Amino acid sequence: MAQPRGQFGSKVGFVLAAAGSAIGLGNIWKFPYLAGENGGAVFLILYLGFVFTIGLSVMLAELAIGRAGEKNPVGAFARLKGGPWTVVGYMGVFTGFIILSFYSVVGGWTLAYALQTATGLLALSDAEALGNAFGAFVADPIGPVGYHGLFMALTVIVVARGIDTGIERACRVLMPVLFVLLAVLCVRSLTLPGAGAGIAFFLEPDFSKVSAGTVTAALGQAFFSLSLGMGAMITYGSYISHRENLPKAALWVTSLDTLIAVMAGFLILPAVFAFGFDPAAGPGLTFITLPAVFSQIPLGAFFGTLFFVLLAVAALTSAMSLLEVVVAYLVDEKGVPRAKAAWGAGMVIFLLGIPSSLSLGVWSDFTVAGKGFFDIMDYLASNVLLPTGGILIALFVGWTVYPQVMDADNGGIGHEFRWAGVWRFVCRFVAPAAIAWILVNRL
Ligand code: PHE
Repeated sequence: MAQPRGQFGSKVGFVLAAAGSAIGLGNIWKFPYLAGENGGAVFLILYLGFVFTIGLSVMLAELAIGRAGEKNPVGAFARLKGGPWTVVGYMGVFTGFIILSFYSVVGGWTLAYALQTATGLLALSDAEALGNAFGAFVADPIGPVGYHGLFMALTVIVVARGIDTGIERACRVLMPVLFVLLAVLCVRSLTLPGAGAGIAFFLEPDFSKVSAGTVTAALGQAFFSLSLGMGAMITYGSYISHRENLPKAALWVTSLDTLIAVMAGFLILPAVFAFGFDPAAGPGLTFITLPAVFSQIPLGAFFGTLFFVLLAVAALTSAMSLLEVVVAYLVDEKGVPRAKAAWGAGMVIFLLGIPSSLSLGVWSDFTVAGKGFFDIMDYLASNVLLPTGGILIALFVGWTVYPQVMDADNGGIGHEFRWAGVWRFVCRFVAPAAIAWILVNRL
């Protein structure tokens, strides 16, 4: 029952769809709070360093594996080489389950905040009250789980319909709108009285603050934000046309993703200082700070609602790419019908996400090494599984399938790629050694 493989309709369409996977909660929710917890400017510098060396190289490696393998991660590894390498693909599918389970919980928060801002439930006035409102909201055992279910259902519905229908069209319109709104909000945040301290925090490094934890967090965030290390970009690469220039596409996706993260930093951190919030407040930081910014602009409730809706859409396009890894595997390798695969996997992921949600409220007493269930899932995925996947993907391209992924006649990169030598060197030595060193040091 081989079905023709869906393909993105145009060049811009592919870059936007891959950017849609990369740009999401990682940029707007996670990046600012990690920067806040890890010394601001120091984190930013490490992050940018990792993104444009290791990140860009692994991005290209994944897209190339995908296009040459023309399959989901498991199928692509099996087809290009097979043997033990296939395990990297399975690892990616497993990681997809883990990440999406807690990602969807946060996706649910964005839906809830969109609704509460629209209906005036979230009084956009008192900065301190906003902090308490967030705490009370996530601690509730019912509400957030319901929104998590809703977010997961939306993700499943889109993925069940297939890759080429709604995704491209939606991204093309909504991502630019999000970008403009983000830029406008940045201006408001940067001009708040007291914003200067936040700008200094984000731009003036204090190198005494660097610890093994900071380095690991920056590396993990580079992988998480670029959707690398688990095969999401392999899957998307398998849908990309052979005419496309892959290195250029990789550079575009990486740059756009970084731009949005840095903008989110300039939006959140100055406001954090202006309103006197704690930059190390953790996962709630963005949800506490944004409404405070909306309270300072005309038509705040309107723009607040619009922003949370767009953030939910950005989260959805990332969630789709996570679920797509699992679903493409079930469809390609196991012959499961697409809709059945999407609903089945979605159900399991929903259940797996429930303890993450509850760990911020009624189950907060259950911790391992000071981390609750939510933090454990995030740490395991971002700081262990994704970087480990990155090592293996880099080694695979650098040492094993380099000739195949360069072979233009079979969907490879082609020889007009001027940086091929540097790229191969990074894949063979630099990326695996650097990531391994960081992981080992952390342990
Ligand atoms: N990159 C996405 C974000 O920043 C999350 C993601 C991670 C998506 C891994 C796919 C794979 O929100």
